[in-house]
Amino acid sequence: MTKLRVYELAKQLGISSKKLITILEDLDVTVKNHMSTIDEDTAKLVIELIEEESGKGKKKSAQSYDTKKSEITSTKTEDNNKNERKVITIPRKISVKDLGVLMGIEPVKIIKKLMDYGLMVNINAEIDFESAKKLASEFEFDVTEEKEDGQDLLIKEESDDPKDLKPRPPVVTVMGHVDHGKTSLLDAIRQTSVTKQEAGGITQHIGASEVEVNGKKIVFLDTPGHEAFTAMRARGAKVTDIAILVVAADDGVMPQTVEAVNHAKAAGVPIIVAINKIDKPAANPDRIKQQLADYGLIPEEWGGDTIFVNVSAKAKTGIDQLLEMVLLVAEMSELKANYNCKARGVIIEAKLDKGRGPIATVLVQRGTLRVGDGIVAGTSYGKVRALFNSRGKRIKAAGPSMPVEVLGLSEVPTAGDILIAVSSEKEAKSIAEEQKNLQKEPEYNTPKKISLNRLFEKL
Ligand code: GTP
Ligand code: MG
Repeated sequence: MTKLRVYELAKQLGISSKKLITILEDLDVTVKNHMSTIDEDTAKLVIELIEEESGKGKKKSAQSYDTKKSEITSTKTEDNNKNERKVITIPRKISVKDLGVLMGIEPVKIIKKLMDYGLMVNINAEIDFESAKKLASEFEFDVTEEKEDGQDLLIKEESDDPKDLKPRPPVVTVMGHVDHGKTSLLDAIRQTSVTKQEAGGITQHIGASEVEVNGKKIVFLDTPGHEAFTAMRARGAKVTDIAILVVAADDGVMPQTVEAVNHAKAAGVPIIVAINKIDKPAANPDRIKQQLADYGLIPEEWGGDTIFVNVSAKAKTGIDQLLEMVLLVAEMSELKANYNCKARGVIIEAKLDKGRGPIATVLVQRGTLRVGDGIVAGTSYGKVRALFNSRGKRIKAAGPSMPVEVLGLSEVPTAGDILIAVSSEKEAKSIAEEQKNLQKEPEYNTPKKISLNRLFEKL
């Protein structure tokens, strides 16, 4: 069955998406926003309704809504009585809520099923195509994948002249279940000791660091494994070129391991599996490989294409091999960026320092950020007063893939906000003010979220 996005149908009908959503609500069809999809039958009913409305005036149309409502309900009942499997078309990732709408099944039932798989999610959580397919199949639906065309309406991406593009270091996110050794592994890589400084050894934020291997830079982002940080990890996956999935060899695949796999897959990020804690007597790397094969991560020696490396963060074994694999995957990705333009980056984390004011950790993704640049991130603006690299050394400029601490913003920005450099502080201020005014508008929230997501996907 053909699927249409709300905005596409609205455009065809010459009405606003908002109006169309109201009409759909009257028909008891719940859609999330203008990017949501509706099926052909519903679209036809809406078209009929609008035609009637324009022909016969408002009073009649109120009755029509009820008639149409019952038509939809009766179609649904008929469908349910047929014992054949229905086909739904879904995008590469879909929220639990949207999937529920598409299948006509209460989200709570979907959430319950996901719990059976060991996934704790809420109604807004996004699940990847493979999981959605498996899930839909349990509800007697077949699934086809939607083509991702026309999704980037809201973003005008600046394009780079290919001659301006130069290689940039890979950004690697370390993901995995709580306590499986993500931070320890990074410690081993950096030969420092971050875990010892952490409260209770639990990572509370995304830490960024840079290392140099054989003269090549690699940027690492550490992520917390606690389930409350799902949203942050989702964000991590989108600024990421490569994901290292850490699985403790004595513990195996756990709920947050699966979540991490789903996030990385949804973002189209290559995964390298680091089987950690192989120094432990109970370590069983083969069991991990078997478990991960169920999620589509098949080791090369079994005919798949996922790289697995056995490591011990404690005994510092396998680290060189892991780094070699990171460089190999990075090389294949041919990562490039423009260094010669105004900077744009993502706020990785931000805090208020008593003495120094708002401090933001920014991952520069494009261009070069310099001391003195006007900057804006959401409603926060200012001028770069100082830049510090991941070792706390003061620097004058930061190019693509570089994580830097930025001083000089007017307020603490939100993690996930995009930071852009502009010609002057004055310009930065006026953009920030515009953003503030925009936030006051009632319609602001939905489009903002979408545009931000799209932006992440583009980066
Ligand atoms: P969160 O940030 O809380 O998600 O945890 P994490 O994944 O960063 O784990 P962390 O590095 O804090 O390590 C958790 C525990 O496992 C610590 O007690 C580490 O000492 C221990 N550990 C980590 N790697 C190894 C290893 O290779 N071998 C052994 N035996 N223990 C390890
Ligand atoms: Mg940690």
